[in-house]
Amino acid sequence: MSLIANLFRSSVGRKILMALTGLILVGFVVGHLVGNLQIFGHPDKINGYAQFLHQTGPLLWVARLGLLAAVVIHIWAATMLTLENKRARGPEAYAVKTWLRASLASRYIRWTGYIVLAFIVYHLAHFTLGVTDPADFKDRHAYVLQEDYTVMGFATVPAGTTVPNVYLMVYRGFESAPVAVFYIIAVGLLSFHLLHGLDSLFQSLGLRSAAWSGWLRRLVALLCLGYFLGNLAIPAAILSGALPLHPAAQVTSGTPN
Ligand code: HEM
Repeated sequence: MSLIANLFRSSVGRKILMALTGLILVGFVVGHLVGNLQIFGHPDKINGYAQFLHQTGPLLWVARLGLLAAVVIHIWAATMLTLENKRARGPEAYAVKTWLRASLASRYIRWTGYIVLAFIVYHLAHFTLGVTDPADFKDRHAYVLQEDYTVMGFATVPAGTTVPNVYLMVYRGFESAPVAVFYIIAVGLLSFHLLHGLDSLFQSLGLRSAAWSGWLRRLVALLCLGYFLGNLAIPAAILSGALPLHPAAQVTSGTPN
């Protein structure tokens, strides 16, 4: 049996698959947050960044398909492991004892996972497809970059390029209280999911020892809190008016690339 087939067929393999796909997804959400935090700068930043990503064309699609595969494998492995655990657990009394011993984050890991999945579907419909709030999406009209957008010193999107106004689209989106509050709840649940997810990830990859499991748990809790606060900052700052709309974001002309 090849190594890959072994990963899919054995219970230990499925745990490793869940950890590895989890790692890919954590990499994405952290990178996405760092990119999104550019909204606190000049609109050139987030708009140039979005254009740069769109310009990568086939590479962007490779990344999207990779992410989709990671999500599917992560959910499949989680479902298989849950079913196996249920089968192995046996008498109800033992199940109750295990439930009481487990942390809150681990007890609700499946439910937080389902809700985050539902959030992703809504989020794609909102900002990528423009189905839920066509008015916000309409605001994704043309923006003319005032300065070069550079990546590692290279001007990847030159000044004067007409790009989508992602800044204005996100800003308009979070001016709505129900939308902003829904995002805050969803990223809160995602952070809670990661609280147990990251801990199990280290366990599955054999990187957690009894000697430092306490420290690891505290480090994971700190990282999850930081992740939550970073994500909270965007809708909270817009909804509360702490981040005023940048005047440059309203400059529009032409059609986006
Ligand atoms: C305050 C929080 C967030 C903001 C402001 C935000 C903003 C955005 C924006 C503006 C886009 C569209 C980018 C474009 O088309 O140029 C996008 C796409 C996306 N976001 Fe978020 N996002 C947030 C949180 C999240 C979270 C927590 C997740 C995952 C759990 C996520 C997953 C995605 C995915 C998968 C895409 C599609 C990327 C692609 O085009 O392939 N986002 N987000």
